[in-house]
This record gives sequence, structure tokens and C-alpha cells, in this order.
Amino acid sequence: MNFQEQKYLIVANWKMNPADSAEAKTLFKAIKKETAKIKNVEIVICPPFTQLLFARLPATGCRLSANLKLGAQNCFWKDDGAYTGEISPKMLKNLGCNFVILGHSERREFLSETNQIVNKKIQAALKNRLKPIVCIGEKEWNVNDFDFEGIKTQILESFEGIKKTNIQNIIIAYEPVWAIGSGQVPSENDIMKAVILIRRLFTEMYDQKIAQKLKILYGGSVNSRNAGNFISNAGINGFLIGKASLNAGEFVRIIKAISEDKQTGNNE
Ligand code: PGA
Repeated sequence: MNFQEQKYLIVANWKMNPADSAEAKTLFKAIKKETAKIKNVEIVICPPFTQLLFARLPATGCRLSANLKLGAQNCFWKDDGAYTGEISPKMLKNLGCNFVILGHSERREFLSETNQIVNKKIQAALKNRLKPIVCIGEKEWNVNDFDFEGIKTQILESFEGIKKTNIQNIIIAYEPVWAIGSGQVPSENDIMKAVILIRRLFTEMYDQKIAQKLKILYGGSVNSRNAGNFISNAGINGFLIGKASLNAGEFVRIIKAISEDKQTGNNE
């Protein structure tokens, strides 16, 4: 498959870090400075809600650009109303976000988020012109029997009623739960296998053209040592990165590894 005309997409999921907004600004600025010349990688920074504002304020020196965008880590499924403690997709759009991570496994585990909830959030995000980054992935590593059934159910239920015309604005993040934050990663072949199965499922649900164009990211213990091989050999369009995105040097090394890979033509 030829993705040459597509940019790679690298999403930084800062999770519940850093606690201090000065630190967030320093991190953001370092990433921005070191990646300013990179054109073929689109970078999306997803800080905690409390630190979303700084990237819009010229005074902080953290302004967004064509290749550096802002995303949130979650949203509610209503635009406004009596929903104590929630943040709406409309609010995120007004803050300058273009993306929102939905259905991350930590939210599924600690906040009981279901596929049905993820489905409502996808619809609400799309309505507000936010691009959902929908996380899916098997819980456990099983060497003999790749659990595609679980992933299939996550996709079928999360995408119920989502129209074909919307798929171009949705990104899938394949994140095996066992690989998140563990230092363990699947083989390039196993990621490729998952990517093929996901594209096959989208062909059945929508059509082949849509399935081929679908952006699929890999997430789970990505670092500067494994990123280049994954991007060259696993059929993915980028990464969703947790821990390594909190270290500006390491995050930039990942981006540069990919960008160099692209320049040498390994992405065809
Ligand atoms: P990790 O997290 O890179 O720290 O494994 C990935 C994620 O949770 O999205």
C-alpha cells in the first residue's frame, strides 16, 4: 500500500502529567523548536484539560502550527448542560483542539468506559469537527491465539451508526493493553496482522477504499529504538505515545526517526 502522500501522525498522550503548567510549557516549546522543520509528520500534543489553554496564548510562545496540533484525552458526549465535572467537545473545539483521544484502555479500566459510551463520544466529537482517535486493543498477550474477536467487538460496537463519510476524519489507535507502559511490545508481524484484520473489518463495514485510507496508529511502549522498525514494517501510519512523549529529547528522536525513514523512501 502506498501512503506516500499521507503524513505520519504522531500523537503525544501526556496522560495526567505534568502537574505543573510551567513544565508543560517547557515540554511543548522544546518539541516545537526541535520539530519546526519537519514537514512530513503531523504532531498532536494531548495535554491534560487544565493545560490545554497555553498552546493558544501567543504570550506563552507555544503557538500551534500546520504540523503541530492540539488534542484532548477525552470528552463528554453533550455540548453543554448539567453534567458536573465533564468537558464537552464544543469546549475543546473552542480551545483550539483538532483531535480527541477516545476509549483509551485506562478510561475503560478505571472509569468503566464501554464501547457504547465511546460510540456516543465519537458522534459528539465529529459533530464538533474534532477528529476522534479511537483506542482499541486486546487485554492480554496470547501467543497462540490472537484475540481479534475482542477487537472486532470493540470496533463494531464503537462504530455503530457512524456514517461512511465520517471515517476519513477518524483515526484508529491499535494499543494492545499489555504493551502500554510495560516495556513489552508485539512483533512487527503481529502489529501488521492486527492492522490487516482492522482494514479487513472496515472493508466489510464500509468499503475497501475507506479501509485502505484509514489511519491506523500503534501505541504501547514506543521508543526511539523500536519506532523506525515499526513504521517501516508494521503497516501503520504513526504512533500514539505515552511515557516517551513526556521526554522532549526522546519524543523528538522518535519523530526524527520516522521522518528520516520517510525521506529514504521506506514508507512505500
Ligand atoms: P506508553 O502509553 O507509550 O507509555 O506505553 C501509550 C498509551 O497509553 O497511549
